[in-house]
Amino acid sequence: MHIGILTGGGDCPGLNAVIRAVTLALIERCGATVTGIERGFLGLLDGRCRSLDAPTVRGLIAEGGTILGTHNRADPFHYFGAGGADCSGHALDFLGRQNIDALVVIGGDGTMTIAERFARLGVPVVGVPKTIDNDLMLNERSFGFDSAVTVVSEALGRLQTTARSHGRLMIVETMGRYAGWIALEGGLAGGADAILIPEQSYQLDHLAAFARQRAHEQGFALLCVAEGAKALGGEWVIQRQLDDSPDPLRLGGIGQRLMGDLEAQLGSEVEIRCTLLGHLQRGGSPTAFDRVLATRFGVAAAGLVMRGQFGRMVALQGDRCVDVGLGEVAGQNRCVPLDHERLQVARELGVFLG
Ligand code: F6P
Repeated sequence: MHIGILTGGGDCPGLNAVIRAVTLALIERCGATVTGIERGFLGLLDGRCRSLDAPTVRGLIAEGGTILGTHNRADPFHYFGAGGADCSGHALDFLGRQNIDALVVIGGDGTMTIAERFARLGVPVVGVPKTIDNDLMLNERSFGFDSAVTVVSEALGRLQTTARSHGRLMIVETMGRYAGWIALEGGLAGGADAILIPEQSYQLDHLAAFARQRAHEQGFALLCVAEGAKALGGEWVIQRQLDDSPDPLRLGGIGQRLMGDLEAQLGSEVEIRCTLLGHLQRGGSPTAFDRVLATRFGVAAAGLVMRGQFGRMVALQGDRCVDVGLGEVAGQNRCVPLDHERLQVARELGVFLG
């Protein structure tokens, strides 16, 4: 059995742990040959790949990034390198030439959408959900999320001491284009006074009044905002459409925008500073939780391959590793429901949410 593995979309702590687990489980259980396809789906088009064996992957559990490289916009069905033409035939030829029996694809919603299209063309594909944003459908927890939340929580902890020393309002902007999970959990863990998420638009004048009062009461205030958040009636600051855009997605901006808006409302009453955490949230070694989850996902994906269950994505539901249809997750985002228990917890603490 010859299996190809690729990582698509943005990188994420835990990708290498999945590559390791899939490879080791396939070699251990059925002596498979494993090939790593480089730079996401691009490798299917330009033929860049390398063989993976046990010694190559054994030391990878703690390593950040992906040894295979990745690419955000390498969609063979709409290939930017060919003016948006459908180049999926080249990918199929490559799989045939290499005698690859099945593909394990590790990625987020964009990657699962492409995987699902390949599955419809008859390619045996298994998906593994990857997103620090934790926003894939039917999957309650993605590896990478805990690592990102840890970065946000540590940042808020550090910013609190400087905020308190200067009596300032500190704004921290997190990732989270469509869903506010990182800002919500990171904000809770770091003791933020206000948490702004894409799912709940905020009213600027209410936020300004809240920030003024909180800063006077406790001498400082911490505001955690997801990059996809927006003011009621306002516009999204980030460029949200990724797939058809000739430009790469531009990250960030809401924190700076918010700082300007609040300064306009608060004048010299409260001094404000803003920190954009950006790719710090995606870099570095995965937390222990993410290493274990990535490993469980990798083993589960290898199991699906060995049982010939294709067109499926592994997922975590409760504490169980299950599998769901690629068609059920493709092209969708799992947002924070407005009655979610974490939001309720934040409300109970008097955290401003919009
Ligand atoms: O994985 C999703 C994400 O982390 C978003 O929150 C963010 O907008 C995006 O990746 C940025 O990706 P890049 O800068 O790599 O295009």
